[in-house]
Amino acid sequence: MTTPPVLRIFALSFLLSGPFPGVILAAVPATTPAVFARDGIVASSHGLASEAGAQILRQGGNAVDAAVATGFALAVVLPSAGNIGGGGFMVVHQADGRDTVIDYRETAPAAASRGMYLGTGGKVLSGPDSSTVGWRAAGVPGTVAGLAFALEHYGSGKITWAQAIEPARRLAAEGFVVSGTTEHRLRRAAALLGQFEESKRIYLKGGSGWRAGETFRQPELAATLERLQRAGWREFYEGETARRIAAAMHREGGTITLADLKNYRIAERAPLRGAYRGYTVVTMPPPSSGGIALLQMLGMLEARDVGALRNDPAARAHLFAEVMTRAFRDRAEYLGDPAFVQVPVAQLLDPAYIRARMNSFSPNRATPSASVEPGLGRLPVSPPRESLQTTHFSVVDAAGGAVSNTYTLNGAFGCGATVPGTGILLNNEMDDFMSAPGVPNLFGLIQGESNAITPGKRPLSSMTPTLLLRSGKLFLVTGSPGGPTIINTVLQVVTNTIDLGMPPCAAVAAPRIHHQWMPDRLDYEPGALTPAALAQLRAEGHILAVSADSIGDSETIEVDPATGVRLGASDPRNGDSAAVAQTPVSH
Ligand code: DON
Repeated sequence: MTTPPVLRIFALSFLLSGPFPGVILAAVPATTPAVFARDGIVASSHGLASEAGAQILRQGGNAVDAAVATGFALAVVLPSAGNIGGGGFMVVHQADGRDTVIDYRETAPAAASRGMYLGTGGKVLSGPDSSTVGWRAAGVPGTVAGLAFALEHYGSGKITWAQAIEPARRLAAEGFVVSGTTEHRLRRAAALLGQFEESKRIYLKGGSGWRAGETFRQPELAATLERLQRAGWREFYEGETARRIAAAMHREGGTITLADLKNYRIAERAPLRGAYRGYTVVTMPPPSSGGIALLQMLGMLEARDVGALRNDPAARAHLFAEVMTRAFRDRAEYLGDPAFVQVPVAQLLDPAYIRARMNSFSPNRATPSASVEPGLGRLPVSPPRESLQTTHFSVVDAAGGAVSNTYTLNGAFGCGATVPGTGILLNNEMDDFMSAPGVPNLFGLIQGESNAITPGKRPLSSMTPTLLLRSGKLFLVTGSPGGPTIINTVLQVVTNTIDLGMPPCAAVAAPRIHHQWMPDRLDYEPGALTPAALAQLRAEGHILAVSADSIGDSETIEVDPATGVRLGASDPRNGDSAAVAQTPVSH
């Protein structure tokens, strides 16, 4: 449930004349209008958070300053995924061309252990002691440390920590108007949030529920943000906020202690760099699986003329599904936190290896997932798992600096528990670890040894914040939520842009498909495939399923290589998302 499936009947004009001429579609997402700017743009899953970032750009901040403000603001206006109680990844592109990655993923607490989510008979627990619900599901949050590190090392120096937090504090203190989308999200999570008194009081208005049009104030969260403004980011890890988190954990049977909070560290990493048809792809390394899988899939596609398949949805879906299956098979086998397991990154990205992965490709026969072997043979390792709710935002500034940031509570509203008196909703990121070998998670992802729980370890992720450069210059900033669908969403936005020449709004809006190796199933959004294409794919042996929810929520910015004009494209699947320009261009 990334977002409610805001599938609007689409005026077919763009599709009939555009990328899929002749394709009759039942319902696909409408595009949102592009936002243009000559200076900066912030695109996020909530217009108020984009505006918070744009304000910081107007005050002289750079992309990182704006990203920090947007990150804090999303914790207020998008409580399902925006957070200070979770973690994520930020890819930073500095105006001078240097790139870096800030990994502020949650870590397993010291008391965590391999079998902590197993009950009698080795069965994976469900309910309040599980890896998905309640206090024991939370990993040590990294967001506050990550945003602070970003501001301190890559901010312009013109925006203080307190200034970057201020828009969020005001939104929490003064409140914001609940949208229809927010009302829907909160209602959908009522069963989870209702199990925790503090969450019920805040997010469900004591049980009666928030209605669109009402003003939602979060005084406890405002006070927490004010403490951070006053005392600095360490307050979260060592001060009053830390003490409240640890006390609640202790009381409620959670595992995070004061020492865990104090010991939390971000990791700065070199991004993965790859190439696709002359563009440089700058993306997320492990502990995300996203960058490796993305580069593998692009590598497999590069040998084929994807553009020539623009009028052949069945052939294109078949090719993409086959590529996805192979990349996700490797993901399942080899990926985990590089501080704890050896991830064969160079081998997985070796062009000869990637080419060889497609030796078994047939243009008219689906490869059964059970027959797809991991390409490097069996290593003592294995796969990931995750669920549904995360958020991505993209920022470009006037000087050409950029941020691609994806962060998460994992499930929508995380573990459901809010630390009393703080307004901090906690993540359930522990569910991204393997709870038991070979047991598929809620979303069908198979787990493996490389992703077993160990104290201090980061759970494997699919988050794929990504940049494209053209001749060394910033071209595209993109990413998405959606668990395993994140990687395939980024893949499709990139290929829609490069292979099909779509402008960003169309590249983001076009209906998507998803295959994750296991289960052996090709999911498609309504409108992605014609009846004839569906019939052809079925005949080729694909098992097809229309996706119940929309796939991904891509917040994307393109920089026109000819003019330097920035085009912000927010995903129409999410009713609250918006790109906001630093200086709005009048028409
Ligand atoms: O890190 C991951 O891959 C997951 N925790 C992300 C979950 C997610 O994207 C759900 N989104 N809608």
